[in-house]
Amino acid sequence: MKVFVTRRIPEEGLKLLERECEEVEVFEHDRIPSKDEIKRGLKGKDGLLCLLTDRIDRDVISSNPKLRAISNYAAGYDNIDVDFATERGIVVTNTPDVLTEATAELAWALLLAVSRRIVEGDRFTREGRFRGWSPTLLLGKELSGKTLGVIGAGRIGTAFALKARCFGMKVLYYNRSRNEVLESRVGARKVDLENLLRESDFVSIHLPLTKETHHLIDYRKLCMMKRDAVIINTARGAIIKERDLIRALRERRIFGAGLDVYENEPEVAEELKEMENVVLLPHIGSATLETRTKMSLLAAENLVKALRGEVPKYCVNPQVLKG
Ligand code: DGY
Repeated sequence: MKVFVTRRIPEEGLKLLERECEEVEVFEHDRIPSKDEIKRGLKGKDGLLCLLTDRIDRDVISSNPKLRAISNYAAGYDNIDVDFATERGIVVTNTPDVLTEATAELAWALLLAVSRRIVEGDRFTREGRFRGWSPTLLLGKELSGKTLGVIGAGRIGTAFALKARCFGMKVLYYNRSRNEVLESRVGARKVDLENLLRESDFVSIHLPLTKETHHLIDYRKLCMMKRDAVIINTARGAIIKERDLIRALRERRIFGAGLDVYENEPEVAEELKEMENVVLLPHIGSATLETRTKMSLLAAENLVKALRGEVPKYCVNPQVLKG
C-alpha cells in the first residue's frame, strides 16, 4: 500500500500509516498544496489522505488510475467529488463523531463572544480605554430564557443544542427528521426554517454543505430574523450568502454574527473584519489537541481499512464497498 498525505497531520495517524504501508509520502510544506502538487504526490499511490482545503475533483481523481481510497481528514467532504469517486469504485471516508464536542463547544464560544461582546471588550481593555466601571459599558445580550434555533440536528447540532439547558434556553430545531433526543432532553420543538428564523434569538448552523444547503441563508432569510438576533456558523461558509450577511449586518438587521467558516476560505471579506459586532475565527471548530489526535488516527485507520478491502468505520459512499 502506497499513500500520499497532503499535510503533516498529528503524528499518531502518520505512525499508523508508516506501520501499515509500504510507502507514506507527506507534503511537507506548511501550506495548502496546489492541484499540481497533489497530482504529483498522488502519482503511483493507492491511497490519498487529504484535508478539507484540498479540492479533490475529477481532474485530480482521474490523474491516477491506481487510486483506490480517499480519506478526508474532516467530517465535511464537500471538497471531494464523491459521485465521480464512486463511479470509479474509489472508497471515500471521513472523520465525524470524534469532532462533535469540540465543534459544539466552539459554536458556544462564538455565541457567547458575540452576545457578551467579549472580543470587543478585550480590545477595549488592551487599548487602555478602561477607565472604570460604567453602567452602560459594552451592554450585550443575555442568554437565559431566550430561544435558540438550531439549523441541522445531526451529531454536532444535537451536542450543541443539548448544552442550551445549562443556560435555561428554549430550543427550536430545523431538520429533515425528528430528533427525539433533543425533544426529550431539552424539550426542543421541530419547526420549519422560516419559523425558526422568526422566533429565535440565537441561530446556529450545523448542516453539511450540499447543493441544497448552498446559500440557504440569504438576505431575505436574514431579514426574517429578529433585529437583535445573533447568527453563528461553524459548519461551512457557503451555507450563508456572505454578501447578504454583510449587507444585513451593515443595515443592523441583526445584532451580530460569529463565524468560523467563510464562503471563499481562506479569504475573509474586508467588510467583516471592520465590523465590531462580528467575531471571526480561522476555521478552528475541531482544533483541540484531543480531537485532532483522534481525527488523525481515524483518518489513517479509515484509509488502511479501505485499502485492505475491509469496511472502514466511516465511509461516505458505502455502495462502493458492496460492489
Ligand atoms: C470538518 O471536519 O468538517 C470541520 O470543519 C473541521 O474543523
